[in-house]
Amino acid sequence: MWQTENKDQAVESPTRQQTLAVQCHGVVKEFGSGQARIQVLRGIDLEIYAGETTFLVGPSGCGKTTLISVIAGLLRPNEGVVSLFGEKTSQLRAGALVHFRAMNLGFVFQQFNLLPALNAAENAAVPLVVQGMSLFKAVRKANELLERLEMGKHKNKYPNQLSGGQQQRIAIARALVHNPRLVICDEPTASLDAQTGHAVMEMLQELASAPDRAVIIVTHDSRIYSFADRIASMSDGQITSVKSKQESQFTKDGS
Ligand SMILES: Nc1ncnc2c1ncn2[C@@H]1O[C@H](COP(=O)(O)OP(=O)(O)OP(=O)(O)O)[C@@H](O)[C@H]1O
Ligand SMILES: [Mg+2]
Repeated sequence: MWQTENKDQAVESPTRQQTLAVQCHGVVKEFGSGQARIQVLRGIDLEIYAGETTFLVGPSGCGKTTLISVIAGLLRPNEGVVSLFGEKTSQLRAGALVHFRAMNLGFVFQQFNLLPALNAAENAAVPLVVQGMSLFKAVRKANELLERLEMGKHKNKYPNQLSGGQQQRIAIARALVHNPRLVICDEPTASLDAQTGHAVMEMLQELASAPDRAVIIVTHDSRIYSFADRIASMSDGQITSVKSKQESQFTKDGS
């Protein structure tokens, strides 16, 4: 395992010149109002590099889902700036932000968030349809990805007819189908067996290794730690350390 005791913001710079996929500067996120107001992100500074898979780890409730939701533009920060591939997305108007997200982002939600009225292939095809592709073509492309995830025989089933692991693979196909520049996954392997989890991570790593792409993964799953290029540790609304694979003394079994 890697060390998380350093409470200072220790963002180590990469050894070679790399494009910044994500830059968070002074990001604060609060929920509620008046006496019930809570600050969940307490001044996040974080840089995530293109060409890498970055893991975000930390105890339950420390703010991981909130942070990736702010990075993805699903939540607006109260303070601070988020830039994706040089675009200050936290300052975009709602319409422009929706468009930016549709063109550049894939997101796997912790609770999958599949649309119950659409079958597996249609769910996975949604980002392509949003980008303007015909439903027929989009479903055909989605089916190719579902085959790779060994979901071919379930492509016409509805979410309530599928297991948690099968739903998770549809959510992963939906995040990848439009070949986005940034893929953000909240616990993408939590419902998967070791072999399927490994296959999913290989697909994500292949995508992230392109110099203009990046993958962010929130996880507690020690089986997949070896896929991280960099590990950002979070505690109580703050980033406590960012370490490269070499610095993190983890092994394939996560020990
Ligand atoms: N919409 C909301 N309104 C109020 N509080 C919220 C909201 N969303 C999250 N919180 C609170 O913010 C804190 C961080 O939540 P978050 O979901 O980001 O944690 P997490 O690190 O993803 O946890 P887990 O590992 O359990 O998924 C928690 O205390 C949670 O109760
Ligand atoms: Mg969470």
